[in-house]
Amino acid sequence: MDLFEYQARDLFESYGVPVLPGIIADTPEEVRAAAEKLGGVTVVKAQVKVGGRGKAGGVKVAKNPDEAEEAAKSILGLDIKGHVVKRVMVAGGARIAQEFYFSVLLDRSNRTFLSMTSVEGGMEIEQLAVERPEALARIEVNPLAGIDEKTATEIAIAANFPADLVPKVAPVIAKLWDVFVGEDATLVEVNPLVLTEEGDVIALDGKVTLDENADFRHPNHEALVDQGAVDPLEAKAKLSNLNYVKLDGEVGIIGNGAGLVMSTLDVVSYAGERHGGVKPANFLDIGGGASAEVMAAGLDVILNDPQVKSVFVNVFGGITACDAVANGIVGALATLGAAATKPLVVRLDGNNVVEGRAILAEANNPLVTVVDTMDEAADKAAELAHAAA
Ligand SMILES: Nc1ncnc2c1ncn2[C@@H]1O[C@H](COP(=O)(O)OP(=O)(O)OP(=O)(O)O)[C@@H](O)[C@H]1O
Ligand SMILES: [Mg+2]
Repeated sequence: MDLFEYQARDLFESYGVPVLPGIIADTPEEVRAAAEKLGGVTVVKAQVKVGGRGKAGGVKVAKNPDEAEEAAKSILGLDIKGHVVKRVMVAGGARIAQEFYFSVLLDRSNRTFLSMTSVEGGMEIEQLAVERPEALARIEVNPLAGIDEKTATEIAIAANFPADLVPKVAPVIAKLWDVFVGEDATLVEVNPLVLTEEGDVIALDGKVTLDENADFRHPNHEALVDQGAVDPLEAKAKLSNLNYVKLDGEVGIIGNGAGLVMSTLDVVSYAGERHGGVKPANFLDIGGGASAEVMAAGLDVILNDPQVKSVFVNVFGGITACDAVANGIVGALATLGAAATKPLVVRLDGNNVVEGRAILAEANNPLVTVVDTMDEAADKAAELAHAAA
């Protein structure tokens, strides 16, 4: 989960990373009030989860509350790379002497953590990495040792910070590592980290990505979710602990095992090319224990997607036998009753397939079509979706 800058700022503050005061505001009037409260020069900053806000006109310096209000009027509602600004942060204005860069991230390809540091801020980091790679110190972080002040000092030296700045920057780097570990982040990026005219090192911007797999350790992260951006079907699926991702098409998909579901998306996409271009409507992996309840919860989510015209249930019985899955389908349809109106194409194979197919034949639900192979079932599901579209 990516955080907004103001959320990153708050986390930084709670770990002792030096930041400037910031107040969030949703209207020009609130911005004026915030600027009056902060006093002096302020900076009005668009809160959107995308980089390059400054260049897009989403970051404006205001000398007084009047200017802050004017800035808010131009920033609120602005479309930055497809993200419409609904909220701004009014931040204290820094007198910047120098801009630097620091980030620490999970480096998946090297199975390690990586810190990246540069005394040359201001430029976009992707550009810096390409044009002047030597100006970016990339240093692996030992996950057990982490970044204490000693390691932070080594990092600052490697990044060519002048000797007088090293002792000022190192504690900030060490605290940013504390944020990274303490919050189970996969990215903590500060661009720019600045030196002020007063000689202070301050994190002026913050990008943080939290690892959702660690949410169970952080009950407080729930409050950081941007409810306005959550898809209602995904929210519903999450309540039932389903592994569901909403997509754009018409064929609802249920399968067991992420790999099987991924290939089901592929075969349905191919089949859709023969049937009016219909596409998969979602990813849903019901996992190993496909009980009637899990199947019902999954079908409930999918059938509530108004875009869905047909559903393809593709299960390969392994640990979960096909008869259990078939009972799950029959039970789910009974539970849903009149709410279930869309055709279901079911392909069962593997463990106890004969028993599974027999259960579905016995139930003889007019909505259910049993098809033996995955390709034929995908074709049937696409055909039904196209016919109903
Ligand atoms: N509080 C502040 N006081 C003074 N100047 C600021 C302040 N916040 C930002 N700036 C200036 O505006 C620039 C852009 O700000 P910031 O990095 O927050 O936006 P950005 O567009 O998200 O940058 P990025 O390209 O990293 O996404 C900074 O490099 C800095 O020069
Ligand atoms: Mg920035």
